[in-house]
Amino acid sequence: MKKGLILVTSGYERFVHWLLAISCLLLCYTGLGMMFESLNFFGVIFGGLKGLKIAHNFIGLVFGVALGLAIKMWWKEAGVFVFPEDFEWFKTAGGYLWHVDKVAETGKYNPGQKMFFLTVAAFGLLMFVTGFFMWFQESFPLGNDLLHWLYPLHALGFVVIFAFFFVHLYLGTIGNPGTVQAMISGWVTKAWIRKQHPGWLKEMEREGTLIVYNKEEK
Ligand code: HEM
Repeated sequence: MKKGLILVTSGYERFVHWLLAISCLLLCYTGLGMMFESLNFFGVIFGGLKGLKIAHNFIGLVFGVALGLAIKMWWKEAGVFVFPEDFEWFKTAGGYLWHVDKVAETGKYNPGQKMFFLTVAAFGLLMFVTGFFMWFQESFPLGNDLLHWLYPLHALGFVVIFAFFFVHLYLGTIGNPGTVQAMISGWVTKAWIRKQHPGWLKEMEREGTLIVYNKEEK
């Protein structure tokens, strides 16, 4: 590892992120396999459609736990907008959509990332609650009207999270080179953090919480 790299995520943060991400993607895979007849073959690795459904339900429980941990861990940094800097950032769309000379310096997560977090939190909860009642519908006398709403709401949650996921995947990898390291080893270059999270860098420097790798390269 190179001298001068900066640690931006803890092992716990990365564990929760990947538990959430992998369970979410497996739910998309197993859910799509059940939803569309043409994708029923997704069930082959789970021993057929019944296996696909059992896997979907239990992975849903893992997703629920991961989502709870993620909300607890990130709500302060990624769930609350801070004014005026977040508003200034919105006015320039963070410099992503057209050229701007200066993008407002925001905290650890920029408002675009906050929007992604809030979408995952809100629609993830919707998925968990609707999925839970679909699974245990015989134990809860919800009535046919309410029961019929669970299915379109569950599908809506999928469409929203899946769409946002592709934007997140692009921005977290090829859209912003060096970013994925934040969720793999946790160590990033100072140039990356200065470009992606300048306000946060200054905050850490001011508070003396910056963790810099000081050993010589092996
Ligand atoms: C497999 C593909 C994925 C990759 C490569 C990836 C990558 C990343 C990276 C690099 C970050 C840190 C960004 C930064 O500090 O600037 C991040 C944050 C985050 N990821 Fe992912 N992620 C993936 C999938 C997911 C999925 C499926 C979810 C949710 C269902 C998710 C939820 C989050 C959240 C909530 C954050 C923190 C706030 C934010 O950056 O919006 N990620 N991810």
